[in-house]
Amino acid sequence: KEDVITLAIESSCDETSVSVLKNGRTVLSNIIASQIEQHQKFGGVVPEVASRKHIENINMVIEEALEEAKVSFDDITHVAATYGPGLVGALLVGLSAAKAIAFAKGIPLNGVNHIEGHIYANFIEHKELEPPFICLVVSGGHTHLVYMEDYGSYEVLGKTRDDAAGEAFDKVARALGLGYPGGPQIDRLAKMGNKEAILFPKAYLEEGSYDFSFSGLKSAVLNYLNSQKMKGNSISVEDVAASFQQAVIEILVEKTIACAVEKETKQIVLAGGVAANSGLRELLQNKAEEKRIDLKYPSLQLCTDNAAMIGCVGYYNYIRGYRSSLSLNGVPNLKI
Ligand code: KG4
Ligand code: ZN
Repeated sequence: KEDVITLAIESSCDETSVSVLKNGRTVLSNIIASQIEQHQKFGGVVPEVASRKHIENINMVIEEALEEAKVSFDDITHVAATYGPGLVGALLVGLSAAKAIAFAKGIPLNGVNHIEGHIYANFIEHKELEPPFICLVVSGGHTHLVYMEDYGSYEVLGKTRDDAAGEAFDKVARALGLGYPGGPQIDRLAKMGNKEAILFPKAYLEEGSYDFSFSGLKSAVLNYLNSQKMKGNSISVEDVAASFQQAVIEILVEKTIACAVEKETKQIVLAGGVAANSGLRELLQNKAEEKRIDLKYPSLQLCTDNAAMIGCVGYYNYIRGYRSSLSLNGVPNLKI
């Protein structure tokens, strides 16, 4: 059987990334051009700036990915690209490049859902991992509890009703005067703070619901900061970071474990940028062990946006015979 070589492109937010994979799970290259510096001065991602930067970067990043993988366009079996969810202008840059390659080389195109990509980062990291499992997808744009029954078959058990987990981290970090993206900063400071210093509210929602809500928690932190300022009290940034992070991860962990118990699965996987959070990894690991559930998560580089995870989804779609039309459009609010 001949090897399937996938060329994958990711451009849904602020990273331009291109990867080459062999048979879906072996990464030959995974180049990531981050735009974080360009967006830092605005305190968040500016969509128009993101699109322009993707256009500037895309050809270079494709060339670099091919070079590092030691392959040429002629070796590529099919092209995979994120077509949603994400910023539409940003998505269109990567998707158009993918279409151009597919058309020029007469090879298939596979449009990929970015959220699926985050889940599949685990298949690259853990070669033996197979569905079914419960996956907690926590990123800057998404907070989903998904039961993955098989490749391409998902049941969304819960999701956020307002802010995504990463968004809450970023907004609280901003209020604390920390840079963008805020998650890593809060993670770092939380290690030096007391997680029981301030009791922030946790929204569990209705009994039995696996949905999340983080906007109340975010407001509570902002109110706390304002009231301390009004009283002229000094603030321990470390304690606020630790107490806020604890509130977020306790809810995430409790609901994830409850889903695994309900679905009677002994496998949980973490995915998305917030899966890089050390507090979340530690607490979920402890709670999973208590229930004799195995926990897996990707390495830090595969947690945040990258094209290798997109290529892995593209590969599984390709071998199932799935093909996208060259008229495929970007879908900003694509659902899993
Ligand atoms: O998956 P990702 O790269 O982009 C999206 O698809 O959204 O996730 C980025 C998010 C940001 O909100 C960032 O603050 C958060 O992941 N993040 C973290 C950590 N590292 C990244 N949040 C908490 N702790 C971290 N260590
Ligand atoms: Zn992402």
